[in-house]
Amino acid sequence: MKHLDDIAPAAYERSSEWELEIDGLFKEFEEPSSGGTNVVLENIDMKVRKGDLISIVGPSGCGKSTLLKIIAGFEKPTRGSVRLGGRTITGSGPDQMMVFQDYALFPWMNTVENVEFGLRIQKLDKKERREKAMEALGRVSLQHVAERPVYMLSGGMQQRVAIARALVMQPRILLMDEPFGAVDAQQRHLLQEELMRIWRDTGQTILFVTHSLDEAIFLSSSVLLMAINPGRFIHSDVITLDRPRDSTSEPFNQIERKLRALLDTEVHKAEAQFEMSIAEQSPKRWWSRRQR
Ligand SMILES: Nc1ncnc2c1ncn2[C@@H]1O[C@H](COP(=O)(O)OP(=O)(O)OP(=O)(O)O)[C@@H](O)[C@H]1O
Ligand SMILES: [Mg+2]
Repeated sequence: MKHLDDIAPAAYERSSEWELEIDGLFKEFEEPSSGGTNVVLENIDMKVRKGDLISIVGPSGCGKSTLLKIIAGFEKPTRGSVRLGGRTITGSGPDQMMVFQDYALFPWMNTVENVEFGLRIQKLDKKERREKAMEALGRVSLQHVAERPVYMLSGGMQQRVAIARALVMQPRILLMDEPFGAVDAQQRHLLQEELMRIWRDTGQTILFVTHSLDEAIFLSSSVLLMAINPGRFIHSDVITLDRPRDSTSEPFNQIERKLRALLDTEVHKAEAQFEMSIAEQSPKRWWSRRQR
């Protein structure tokens, strides 16, 4: 069997460091309706090596985005520790850049100004800012639209701008929350291939959330599967298929079938729990849902 080192980018092969270390992480939200607490993440332990590309899959609502937001420093853990490059994360910053499904670009800025945004906050001078931004745009093959307003770009192009805007900060970790969920299948495949190229060329550490098992297996060095209520990891697979991966090959499909069975079980459990909670809170509503 191939070791992870054989298929990962150069930066990873050299690295034995843990870039991200999460120990005993819990996240609870208050439930205003009941006055109780909702345990969203329970006892999450996770280590990501420098240069790894890890995907997380799990049923809707299991806490994937919450986990990414905690690593990004947008949310605080209730308990437990999250360390990046050996230092505890205390807030958001350029070391943890996030890419969202909806691009979140600034519509009043042109393409290169969007990419420069974080560098402007860091008070880099204009020339250096522009050089770095153009280099990042080159990584996503978009230098030719640098001066174009972002609203003139296609969805796929806008997402590449969002990736360039994150990469330009040279983060320790790139956090991607269903980044290709809003584009069509053709664009999605192009974006996946582009991300593979970026990963290979830069050795960027990436944590990638997706609903698509196919996407997770195509991209990742490991796939982690989460369960719901409370959100926790229940399975992990190191993917050692040769790259570029062929999603129609039998070994690829074998992995997908195995993960699909595990994921479907979790999704069905989540649906049953949801039905039960509605039935408990409002038998009338539960009955009317059943009639539909
Ligand atoms: N700020 C918040 N306040 C209260 N509850 C929250 C908050 N943010 C998330 N939650 C709850 O935490 C749970 C997990 O949400 P989260 O968005 O992390 O799930 P997810 O796995 O990303 O789902 P999806 O696949 O649909 O994106 C949900 O029950 C959600 O309602
Ligand atoms: Mg989410």
